[in-house]
Amino acid sequence: MKHLYPFYSKVRPEQRKDMMQQEPWLIWLTGLSGSGKSTLAVGLEHYLFQKGYKVYLLDGDNMRSGLNSDLGFTRQDRKENVRRVSEVAKLMLDAGLVVIGAFISPYEVERALVRETVGSDRYTEVYINCPLQVCEQRDVKGLYDKAQRGLIPAFTGVSAPYEVPAAPDVIVKTAEESVEDSLRKLIEVVEPLLVKQ
Ligand code: PPS
Repeated sequence: MKHLYPFYSKVRPEQRKDMMQQEPWLIWLTGLSGSGKSTLAVGLEHYLFQKGYKVYLLDGDNMRSGLNSDLGFTRQDRKENVRRVSEVAKLMLDAGLVVIGAFISPYEVERALVRETVGSDRYTEVYINCPLQVCEQRDVKGLYDKAQRGLIPAFTGVSAPYEVPAAPDVIVKTAEESVEDSLRKLIEVVEPLLVKQ
């Protein structure tokens, strides 16, 4: 890049950690539409907030209403969506926050990019595993019905791919577990990571 002169902050990461009293961390939830990402992300954020963690949730629909409102669902736009979100998450981690990301993020290569962007030492990938048939039956937003009738192009699981994560750090199975069970499982893995070292 030309003519760029990044400055270096006088505030050290350790000082921020001391102030925030937590380990900055990105918890990334990936899964099909209707798999339960947002429900679990909202529950996890609420739990951590109540426990005093400085936490913020980035969610697909919300980000696509603002920063990413110029993006659609082509292969290229999904890539750009996840790229931008990972850069936002990185800044938030640098500021000392705990960040939860809830995005379909259907491609392994982009999920790997998220891990690489924020750093694998402060990243946990959670696969929200739910069979497509169950997501279709739930169809909370009515999107599967529309997609099957050809009204939504490139809909994940119907007319666009979802690559199952090869090596997620955590798997929750929302067709088999209650929301409370999945949330408990998540909390058990995540909370110890956030305790300041
Ligand atoms: S991605 O693939 O990571 O860029 O998607 P994401 O930013 O998470 O946005 C997913 C939400 O967008 C709505 N929506 C669609 N999803 C998938 N495919 C198509 N074509 C599509 N069009 C709109 C939908 O509400 C998704 O939300 P969730 O919470 O996953 O159901």
